[in-house]
Amino acid sequence: MTQDSTTRPLILGAAGFSSQQPRPPLPELPPLSLYIHIPWCVRKCPYCDFNSHTASAVLPEQEYVDALLADLDQDMPHVYGRELSTIFFGGGTPSLFSADALGRLLSGVEQRIRFAPDIEITLEANPGTFEQDKFSAYRGLGINRLSIGIQSFQEAKLKALGRIHNGNEAVRAADMARQAGFDNFNLDLMHGLPNQSQDDALGDLRQAIALAPTHLSWYQLTLEPNTVFWNQPPTLPEDDILWDIQEAGQTLLRENGYAQYEVSAYAQAGRTARHNLNYWSFGDFIGIGAGAHGKLSHPDGRIMRTWKTRLPKDYLNPAKAFKAGEKLLPMNEMPFEFLMNALRLTNGVDAALFQGRTGLSVDSLDSARRQAEQRGLLEDDPARLVATARGQLFLNDLLQYFLI
Ligand SMILES: C[S@@+](CC[C@H](N)C(=O)[O-])C[C@H]1O[C@@H](n2cnc3c(N)ncnc32)[C@H](O)[C@@H]1O
Ligand code: SF4
Repeated sequence: MTQDSTTRPLILGAAGFSSQQPRPPLPELPPLSLYIHIPWCVRKCPYCDFNSHTASAVLPEQEYVDALLADLDQDMPHVYGRELSTIFFGGGTPSLFSADALGRLLSGVEQRIRFAPDIEITLEANPGTFEQDKFSAYRGLGINRLSIGIQSFQEAKLKALGRIHNGNEAVRAADMARQAGFDNFNLDLMHGLPNQSQDDALGDLRQAIALAPTHLSWYQLTLEPNTVFWNQPPTLPEDDILWDIQEAGQTLLRENGYAQYEVSAYAQAGRTARHNLNYWSFGDFIGIGAGAHGKLSHPDGRIMRTWKTRLPKDYLNPAKAFKAGEKLLPMNEMPFEFLMNALRLTNGVDAALFQGRTGLSVDSLDSARRQAEQRGLLEDDPARLVATARGQLFLNDLLQYFLI
């Protein structure tokens, strides 16, 4: 996963905790991640609403690396002395960048922030950009996890999705990743594709499972505003077929050793995505690059969200600031923001984490928890905050109880 709706700032008009109330300090700071956005792709896919732009013949790699490091310098005063647990190169298509450029970037980052000894460094890659030497060099830089955007193995589906690769290239990408020394890689697949049957969808999953990735992200295609598919919608499967695909796919994944731990995330034992888990457990992250979002906590209880200039040409323009905006998270929005992330997790989170991450007492959620439990949306478990199966299905309804 790159940065998605769970990392975008919310502007809500709720009341509850007074803005005058002193903020409770945090018992300790959460783990710290770094998200690096690379905003270019070979071609824009018709379903994609990420901040990705068709690349020109020559990528401004060096200028962009310089800008990323200057951007990071501006965030440094908020994270001095802390250690990075994970880094995620997302996009766009980070695998368009040369190993030299990524190497210069990674050493620049390491000169500024200490890396945890077991740091997870993930790079998103498109099968249409795979070259053995480049991927071996990536591995040599310390990048130790790949997330490969396969989507489907079927030619007709790949064509309908406007992908730049075919099914064979998708299979070859996974083989090359392994040969380059990546023993930890994710495959992104989508289902609910135009005219897709249950057999088509399960065929894609079987083929992915045969490549033995450690992690599978299995997204249902959604039509997003401001995309080609939104304006010219393709024929998508009926709801009952979507339901059958979901049920049968989950069973197939479970039977093959992939445990679901989030709405769309499945992993072999011990192979959950640590970077994404840090988002979902309301950890901290620096976001650098065009349109990147960040969330940083301070020991005094302040939580700041930031977002960077979105268009690559503006981000690269020295006359413009990297930071496009920031927002101090009001206390009344913390329950919603915390739970919007945590309740995506199949097993939810320990209730004590709420206080650990927000400084607020978990008792402040009591009345909303009771109401959500009565509606069958939240498990009646004092020790955990976890959605029921119904709550997972109607997450937005469940979250409404925490708009206090
Ligand atoms: C930002 S993309 C980056 C991956 C890489 N650029 C690629 O496409 O090969 C991350 C993933 O989000 C998923 N995705 C993108 N748009 C989607 C949509 N409209 N509905 C569902 N999943 C989507 C795709 O599986 C994609 O691989
Ligand atoms: S390659 Fe990935 S990021 Fe780029 S347009 Fe397609 S789905 Fe979006």
